[in-house]
Amino acid sequence: MSRFSLPQDAAFQALNTSLGFDQRLWPHDVAQSRAHVRMLAAQGIISDADRDEILGGLDTAAAELEAGSFPFRADDEDIHMAVERRVSELTGPAGGKLHTARSRNDQVITDLAMFTRAAAQGAIADLEQLRLVLLEVAERHLDWPVPGYTHLQRAQPVYLSHHLLAYFWMATRDIGRFEAVLRATSELPLGAGALAGVNFDTDRRMVAAELGFDGVVRNSVDAVSNRDFALDLLHALSVCATHLSRLGQEIVLWTSSEFGFMTLSDAWSSGSSIMPQKKNPDAAELLRGKAPRVWGHQAALHGVIHGLPLTYNKDLQEDKEHLFDAADTVALCIAAAGGMLETATFHRATMAAAASDQMIAAVDLADLLVKRGTPFREAHGVVAGLVREAVDSGRSLADVAIPALGDDAAAILEQSSWLESKVSEGGTALVRVREQLQQARALVG
Ligand code: ARG
Repeated sequence: MSRFSLPQDAAFQALNTSLGFDQRLWPHDVAQSRAHVRMLAAQGIISDADRDEILGGLDTAAAELEAGSFPFRADDEDIHMAVERRVSELTGPAGGKLHTARSRNDQVITDLAMFTRAAAQGAIADLEQLRLVLLEVAERHLDWPVPGYTHLQRAQPVYLSHHLLAYFWMATRDIGRFEAVLRATSELPLGAGALAGVNFDTDRRMVAAELGFDGVVRNSVDAVSNRDFALDLLHALSVCATHLSRLGQEIVLWTSSEFGFMTLSDAWSSGSSIMPQKKNPDAAELLRGKAPRVWGHQAALHGVIHGLPLTYNKDLQEDKEHLFDAADTVALCIAAAGGMLETATFHRATMAAAASDQMIAAVDLADLLVKRGTPFREAHGVVAGLVREAVDSGRSLADVAIPALGDDAAAILEQSSWLESKVSEGGTALVRVREQLQQARALVG
């Protein structure tokens, strides 16, 4: 029997179905169904014989899903109904008991929590790998000077290792955000039923333990309404994507002929369909170009949830594609970032030449005056005047500064002293970079 006297309109079916995208939840759906029926039998809600039949049906359905031979039907609304329908076909009346004491509302959010946890764990593993690459490349280029920029104007030189380690710390903070997502998915929603709880004496903690949750969501209304962890994952993914976009942009700049600091491996470059000489940093450009798509998904999910009355509303079906695409996109981007960096060649002489532009030592000259007792603001003015004189007369800063400031200025304009004088904690002097590498190594274990 059905409550309805007409079949669903085809356009409604097309709008309403989520099977096209929620199929990938099947491993979680099957795992939670297994845990659910074991609990139902342990509580005496179904018989052990029914449990075993259902578990057998779930095994067959899982094998079919794995093999791509699962017989989906046009009217399967989503993966949950498809699996339940198939288990019923395979087992007869026992299969009809699978959905006892459960609703798709608590089922879908349980699948999503499991997916979110797996995605966060995957991102953490990918970022840990990226951190190893960053460390290794930093160690290989420990004392290679490169200009540091502000406003994309040469500002002060740093060692390449120091510059790359900035990305190590970004990745470390990203990992922290994904760990927070794990904490946000630590309670099991299943058992909330449609929204009010269920009419059976279930053991939610048994299901939680089997599925690896630390506890159960305390409130059934909250359990089926909550999508916070999905927003949390999208936030962590968004920040990570933004970080990678900055790395991508730097790779685009550094591999240009104008900079010439870096060459990508051919494995990470593409050619042009018309210009035979081109070697394009497409992967780096895509690190830039993919980021807005990830935050777009975050904004879209806020849009779906905002103003939504409790509890479940079909709008919430729209949570999945945003999450899936964002997680897939960031996984690819992290892999590309690591692949590019690990195999790139840096050009020591070109970077060193750019980093030895004497103008880059202007702050150091001002600090020389400060150490002689001149207030910094006044020293800044004196050196600005020297820079201007040098630029206007076409002479080097040394030619102008040494007569004005004495021989100490010559020592300062020796390139290595600009870097090696940056001895403050967290600075670029080698002694500090080595310290930083040690701290970083300790984190990666
Ligand atoms: N496909 C649905 C979703 O993704 C599953 C939950 C449906 N629940 C319902 N009451 N219609 O959200």
